[in-house]
Amino acid sequence: MSSDVRKYYEARKDEDDYIRLLESKIKYLETEKEKLLMKIRYYKSEIEKLLSPPLIEAVVLSILDDGRVVVKSSTGPNLIVNVLGTVPRDKIRPGQHVALNQRGSTIVDVLPEYEDPYVKSMEVIERPNVTFDDIGGLKEQIRELIEVVELPLKNPELFEEIGIEPPKGVLLYGPPGCGKTLLAKAVARESGATFISIVGSELVQKFIGEGARIVREVFKYARKKAPAIVFIDEIDAIAARRLDIGTSGEREVQRTLMQLLAEIDGFKPLDKVKIIAATNRIDILDPAILRPGRFDRLIEVPLPDLKGRYEIFKVHTRRMKLAEDVDLYELARITEGATGAEIKAIVTEAGYNAIRNNRRKVNMNDFLEAVRKVMSKKSIREKNIDILGSKEKEYSTSYMF
Ligand SMILES: Nc1ncnc2c1ncn2[C@@H]1O[C@H](COP(=O)(O)OP(=O)(O)O)[C@@H](O)[C@H]1O
Ligand SMILES: [Mg+2]
Repeated sequence: MSSDVRKYYEARKDEDDYIRLLESKIKYLETEKEKLLMKIRYYKSEIEKLLSPPLIEAVVLSILDDGRVVVKSSTGPNLIVNVLGTVPRDKIRPGQHVALNQRGSTIVDVLPEYEDPYVKSMEVIERPNVTFDDIGGLKEQIRELIEVVELPLKNPELFEEIGIEPPKGVLLYGPPGCGKTLLAKAVARESGATFISIVGSELVQKFIGEGARIVREVFKYARKKAPAIVFIDEIDAIAARRLDIGTSGEREVQRTLMQLLAEIDGFKPLDKVKIIAATNRIDILDPAILRPGRFDRLIEVPLPDLKGRYEIFKVHTRRMKLAEDVDLYELARITEGATGAEIKAIVTEAGYNAIRNNRRKVNMNDFLEAVRKVMSKKSIREKNIDILGSKEKEYSTSYMF
């Protein structure tokens, strides 16, 4: 072979080698690609697993130097967790609500802002603007509240010295609009206590499924805010005597009541939290709630009598310019059966009458017209209740039991 020919063959061989090399490289890269695709599939399924419901709600407490995060999970303990790569790091701030995977090991999502139902469910008044002077009549009830609520909150040592335990809870009962809420607010104000109120029927109807948790949180909050008064309005909605527990709704009400009893049993008579409950259906209350150590002081807040109505008229006309002829005693006399709320409505209506007639002072005629209007509305309403009476009872029975 000539050297030219040899060169030619050698060059061909090099090329062939080179092609083989490239081919094997392609093969290698293809298997690499396959491996990477498998990895991607694996990680995708892992992320899916992490994101699969139910996730655990948690609140970010703090962020550690190494990037891990301390959260308080809604299931209880504080956890140290990682953050999934797809979660925007700048959103992870203390106080942020986040979602953890099922194992609670990783933050997998940042939750949108929302208001916790328990915050919406309670009304907090640091310093109610109602004083005992704003309450007409009810002197005996006020005296009793001072004794069992204000005194122990202000001077617990007095009770320790004498060795008696004041009641933990007080139940105010009586027809609507006669001053139960007013009394609770006033005693909170006069004891320098924070007024925290929840409404039983709302726990049952508006915050379905949250009742027990709300009760727990409210008492936790009350302890933090002590001295505090927890006011539970319409307690009959969660503490009605039950015949049997059938539907899940009833079990939920029962859980709420159990939580309430546990909270009451859990603190001591001289802790700086007092509970005042109100109802206009004391007849249907579960006796468990009235046991010693719970709501063991019952205070009736009845319809005002003649003197009571006079006092209520006095309270609500205090800042009113009255003409000479206004006779509050006579007004009290002709409004037999009126509640405090109705008397307030009468006074407001009388004020409107004077304004309509371009007068600066409210006269007796304004009041008489107002009495006619408010009392006739009342009698229409009461007649309707009479007609609906049996139906309404049916409704409330089927609902409560
Ligand atoms: N004894 C009272 N003295 C003065 N105002 C009263 C009295 N009772 C009721 N009212 C008026 O009626 C309104 C409703 O009373 P409230 O205390 O909420 O009644 P309850 O809680 O018993 O249903 C009060 O805001 C107040 O204006
Ligand atoms: Mg009320």
